[in-house]
Amino acid sequence: MSLEGPVLGVETSCDETGVALFDPRRGVLGERLHSQVALHAEYGGVVPELASRDHVRYLTPLIRSLLTECGVERPGGVAYTAGPGLAGALLVGASVASALAWSWQVPLLAVHHMEGHLLAPLLGEPAPEFPFVALLVSGGHTLLVAVEGLGRYRILGETLDDAAGEAFDKVAKMLGLGYPGGPAVAELAERGCAGRFRFPRPMIDRPGLAFSFSGLKTAVLNAVEAHGGEPQARADIARAFEEAVVETLLVKCRRAVAAAGVDRLVVAGGVGANRRLRESLLAWGARDGVAVFFPPPALCTDNGAMIAHVGALRLAEGERSGWAFTVRPRWPLSELRPPGGG
Ligand code: KG4
Ligand code: ZN
Repeated sequence: MSLEGPVLGVETSCDETGVALFDPRRGVLGERLHSQVALHAEYGGVVPELASRDHVRYLTPLIRSLLTECGVERPGGVAYTAGPGLAGALLVGASVASALAWSWQVPLLAVHHMEGHLLAPLLGEPAPEFPFVALLVSGGHTLLVAVEGLGRYRILGETLDDAAGEAFDKVAKMLGLGYPGGPAVAELAERGCAGRFRFPRPMIDRPGLAFSFSGLKTAVLNAVEAHGGEPQARADIARAFEEAVVETLLVKCRRAVAAAGVDRLVVAGGVGANRRLRESLLAWGARDGVAVFFPPPALCTDNGAMIAHVGALRLAEGERSGWAFTVRPRWPLSELRPPGGG
């Protein structure tokens, strides 16, 4: 079923307001992103009510300027993130997207945020072919998924407690670094010496693909309490923490690729920006004949293009959502199905 124009995607699940226009034949026509990082920085984390208000402030002006720039008066469809995410933040995107689709009388689709992330690598160059294993490592998720096609996802493993990015953020706090903590910890780790501290590699000696980062966090806290007054020790702790996370992720990725019987691994989510993680996965991939894809950071973190993209794929298959929108702050990825239910 072809649409009469590009699909407008709206992403407001957390602390980025993202909008984009995606055309199945021409790709991403344009996009806009407003990050709330500075707004939340002084609180050391995302404040849900402030996030919602900021989405209210920025969403419609961003959509207007995007449509103007692309010379589009009426898109062929509208897709919005319906979950998972912060309820108030999701409602802003859902209500604006539904109202616009209704006023334009074009198809509307509620999109799962993680499906957006899983398929975003297809927008990169080179794009991976199906099937592949995706490692999603962000502030909210640590997930290994076998991706066989649109709506055909098998969760291989996920975290039992903290997400990898969350562990970076908490360790940053312990070390007195700012928010978001991942880049700050990574920078400090560059000055650290390897081998002075050694932290546990959570769950790598047990079979299976689940992750757990809370024990590692406690080990780091103990080291900071004992040695944190000394600047070089803080850098050494950051280094040892980063190495523990990277090795844990590497071991699980290796197992996941073997378990799924594929030779392609895609890494997405903010932690995918970590240099040490990139280098060790690429080195392993080159050794073991696994193609490792790191889409550009702008596609890995939250954005409107990934929602417009999934929306366009599913709308083209005839899938539609009703005008009476709902949001799903908790929405298991395992509930997703291929278009048509197959
Ligand atoms: O995907 P993302 O931008 O947002 C969501 O969580 O949805 O991921 C943000 C997370 C934060 O926890 C941040 O600390 C982490 O990614 N991060 C990093 C790096 N850059 C961002 N972690 C480690 N090393 C980095 N270079
Ligand atoms: Zn996300």
